[in-house]
Amino acid sequence: MGGPARLSPPRALLLGAALGAAAHIGPAPAPEDWWTYKDNLQGSFVPGPPFWGLVNAAWSLCAVGKRQSPVDVELKRVLYDPFLPPLRLSTGGEKLQGTLYNTGRHVSFLPAPRPVVNVSGGPLLYSHRLSELRLLFGARDGAGSEHQINHESFSAEVQLIHFNQELYGNLSAASRGPNGLAVLALFVNVAANSNPFLSRLLNRDTITRISYKNDAYFVQDLSLEQLFPESFGFITYQGSLSTPPCSETVTWILIDRALNVTSLQMHSLRLLSQNPPSQIFQSLSGNGRPLQPLAHRALRGNRDPRHPERRCRGSNYRLHGMPQTQEPGAPPPPVDPNARAREGAENYKSQETAGPKRRELASHRPRSLLGFVVQPSPPTLGSALGLGHSPGDSGVQVSRPKTWHFEPGRPR
Ligand SMILES: *[C@@H]1O[C@H](CO)[C@@H](O)[C@H](O)[C@H]1NC(C)=O
Ligand SMILES: *[C@@H]1O[C@H](CO)[C@@H](O)[C@H](O)[C@H]1NC(C)=O
Ligand SMILES: *[C@@H]1O[C@H](CO)[C@@H](O)[C@H](O)[C@H]1NC(C)=O
Repeated sequence: MGGPARLSPPRALLLGAALGAAAHIGPAPAPEDWWTYKDNLQGSFVPGPPFWGLVNAAWSLCAVGKRQSPVDVELKRVLYDPFLPPLRLSTGGEKLQGTLYNTGRHVSFLPAPRPVVNVSGGPLLYSHRLSELRLLFGARDGAGSEHQINHESFSAEVQLIHFNQELYGNLSAASRGPNGLAVLALFVNVAANSNPFLSRLLNRDTITRISYKNDAYFVQDLSLEQLFPESFGFITYQGSLSTPPCSETVTWILIDRALNVTSLQMHSLRLLSQNPPSQIFQSLSGNGRPLQPLAHRALRGNRDPRHPERRCRGSNYRLHGMPQTQEPGAPPPPVDPNARAREGAENYKSQETAGPKRRELASHRPRSLLGFVVQPSPPTLGSALGLGHSPGDSGVQVSRPKTWHFEPGRPR
């Protein structure tokens, strides 16, 4: 992440020496850049995860914070929350373009300023703007994701980093304020097929352009909606940045269906170097922070394990302004004053977004999207729609699920 602008200088150069890790210290990096995932980087001391919180006063949360990320998600601890509305992604129907960038720590896709990609709904009370897509991966299959599910890692994790654009003007301001950031995480397995969005970034022609640190390559014509599974649920918790300064401002949203990439694509990721071409090759892989204690933070999910066949309302990611439903320049379809209420009801009804309905949704501006946050309680509206809970159900719907299915199957 761009990194907050104001960080105190690395008094820790001294600490580095005190730790006896370095006989000499190379050219001093910018203070906000003075950290690594691995303890040893060419002999000179650069603080790895256990030291992040000790070497820079601005990063103290990395050491003492109690709301840190990533975490291990034990599915039996996930609480079903029927009040979670659907997640909403809005691209305005436009293709995405931007810069694929080897930061020396991650593969990062930085979208161009236009189009703005918004996400809201789910646990988010504010509209958040996409700022970076980040890829973390392991040196071998079955390791590499930052978050774990039932103590198991995936081969990679895609993180979509958004900032609260209603309260903050940019990412670095948001990362220091309450309710600042929302990160959507998607898990990745190695398999025979490949996610179409990731394929665009990981094809040979593209990924080999960013072999070394600071290499950048412009990519266009990307359809972000192709990144997401057809339908899915999500698990959310309150956490932190998983890089310094570890600010505890992040609402994490973990998508509960894994994506695939091929082993060739995974291999090409591992061939990327953390260093510029003038220095020795060190694979970017293993670029995740170790697990942090969950303590008694809540993990909330939006799929009702008691009715898995019903694929609970809200498990579908709703796309606004899909290209095929909103021709550029076409006048928006008329919207009557009751449309919003009906739309809310539709949201409960099913995950299907049939053509005409999607068209109606696409016509709404974010202001009206916020209307969705205010919803009647599920028992009332649900039973009105014939989808509700049985009369025996109390109004309090949060329950401890007996089983929670992660799809597909278990991580590998
Ligand atoms: C995203 O949100 C901003 C601010 O709320 C709004 O101006 C913009 O039109 C939205 N973009 C899309 C594609 O919905
Ligand atoms: C981000 O916003 C803050 C406060 O609004 C401002 O002071 C700062 O200069 C901005 N940073 C960038 C990089 O635009
Ligand atoms: C990913 O691969 C697995 C195993 O080959 C397959 O069962 C699953 O359907 C694939 N997922 C997607 C989204 O294609």
